[in-house]
Amino acid sequence: MVSTRIAREDDVYRAVSLVAYMIKDGAFSESDKQSIFISIMEVCRNVVDHAFGSGYLVCDLDERGFTFQCTDKGPGIHDLGKVLAGSYESSRGLGVGLASVKRLMDDLRIYTSDEGTEVFGIKRERRRR
Ligand SMILES: Nc1ncnc2c1ncn2[C@@H]1O[C@H](COP(=O)(O)OP(=O)(O)OP(=O)(O)O)[C@@H](O)[C@H]1O
Ligand SMILES: [Mg+2]
Repeated sequence: MVSTRIAREDDVYRAVSLVAYMIKDGAFSESDKQSIFISIMEVCRNVVDHAFGSGYLVCDLDERGFTFQCTDKGPGIHDLGKVLAGSYESSRGLGVGLASVKRLMDDLRIYTSDEGTEVFGIKRERRRR
């Protein structure tokens, strides 16, 4: 299990390296690994960019595969529907981060309120092809 604080840009890269080490022997294809790295990078970067660097990331490998949970105490996501549809117009980025993560993960759940956000994702383990 990996659990780490996400406060600054450096933490984003550190989180990706921790995850890379964690899944290196798992039954993930190269493209599944890339999907996981991109997803971790996007959700952690959102904490730095949009949630005052108030985040915490927990990742695990269990019978479901790779799971992550990224929680923060930021202001919440106001237009989650548009964000997930990829039609959100962002003032700070491309506005496609979370919509991509939704496509890259097998399951993505987001709980958000004005007290913070929790993003939970699963990538199932498959036999390497
Ligand atoms: N953890 C968060 N806390 C508060 N708001 C968030 C959080 N994550 C995302 N948001 C809001 O949702 C919007 C869309 O996020 P998304 O990651 O899809 O795009 P982006 O960060 O704007 O741009 P990029 O394409 O560079 O990721 C953000 O612009 C921000 O308003
Ligand atoms: Mg983003």
